[in-house]
Amino acid sequence: MPDKSVILAAIAREMQTGVLVLDKEGRALYANPFLVQSFPITGGVEGAPVSAIIKNETLLKTIDGFIGARGGSSKEIEISESGRFFNARIVPLADKAEFSILLFLQDITEEKRVETIKKDFVANVSHELRTPLASIKGYSETLLDGGMEDMDTQKEFLRVIDRHATRMSRLIDDLLILSRLESHQMPIVFAPVDLKELINATSSGFKMQSQDKGIKINVAIRDDTPKVSGDRDRLEQVMVNLLDNAIKYTPSGGSVEVSAAPAGDGHVRIDVTDTGFGIPVEDIPRIFERFYRVDKARSRELGGTGLGLAIVKHIISGHNGRVWVESVPGKGSSFSVMLKVWG
Ligand SMILES: Nc1ncnc2c1ncn2[C@@H]1O[C@H](COP(=O)(O)OP(=O)(O)OP(=O)(O)O)[C@@H](O)[C@H]1O
Ligand SMILES: [Mg+2]
Repeated sequence: MPDKSVILAAIAREMQTGVLVLDKEGRALYANPFLVQSFPITGGVEGAPVSAIIKNETLLKTIDGFIGARGGSSKEIEISESGRFFNARIVPLADKAEFSILLFLQDITEEKRVETIKKDFVANVSHELRTPLASIKGYSETLLDGGMEDMDTQKEFLRVIDRHATRMSRLIDDLLILSRLESHQMPIVFAPVDLKELINATSSGFKMQSQDKGIKINVAIRDDTPKVSGDRDRLEQVMVNLLDNAIKYTPSGGSVEVSAAPAGDGHVRIDVTDTGFGIPVEDIPRIFERFYRVDKARSRELGGTGLGLAIVKHIISGHNGRVWVESVPGKGSSFSVMLKVWG
């Protein structure tokens, strides 16, 4: 068996937690590599006073308290230093005449980030459900109160209720799809997919919607486009979301073009190009995030919840493909998807 000190040194060197040992004046006696890396200071950590290494006031006060009392019971606090979060455990160590303090600093930045995402997610979902629910409740209460003799108004109210209920159930459907995709409960089953057939079928599905809005859909699939490797149902969801957006965010009289062509290097590229509102350059990096909408009011009015592109992104990355957008505000947007050729 190797020497105990060799083992201990290896533990201190390899552990992914910062270790700092302070003397009775609060100067650093020892710091392991993880700590040096997380709290770099000029002139080196060893010998430096703790206040030069970590700035957190609560932590420094606690250490001062331990030094003053030459002891105490260990404490755990959460600190944030230059954009990162740490869980700090401060352990006073009284050994005969000697007194020192052990500090363990565990980087919890990633846990914090996940926690924030979760909190935001719950807040977003609740908000998105509350809005239609409030309308449903308001309109149904008015109907139940009576005094609403006029049949046409009654019908109109019921239509509003129905619209909001549909919206809620769409939101739940989208959330379930996203959650299944994220937890890999919806595996992608690869098979040859004929894009000509898929794109023609999905575009036909939007005939009514586009005609109602006075938008022309053009489909242009190059004849030499090979079959791609993918899951037809999932890719249909991609096309539905991209087409839905293109039509939704294009004013009447505009047009949408869907094209597909070989892109070389064993790939096929699909483009969905519209002559719509476009997307400001600062919003582009965020539109694939869940619930992100450029213009919340407009999108909500059009029935959107901001989940469509998050679903698209998930499906395409599950295909090891790529999806991106180019847009000129006021002129239009072009969403592109790159997929692998089958075989
Ligand atoms: N073709 C487009 N033209 C202009 N803006 C777009 C286009 N596609 C997406 N966007 C912007 O990106 C946002 C996110 O799109 P996404 O499809 O994820 O959500 P949504 O359409 O608002 O709602 P959902 O798809 O869940 O019904 C939209 O709210 C819109 O602001
Ligand atoms: Mg959408």
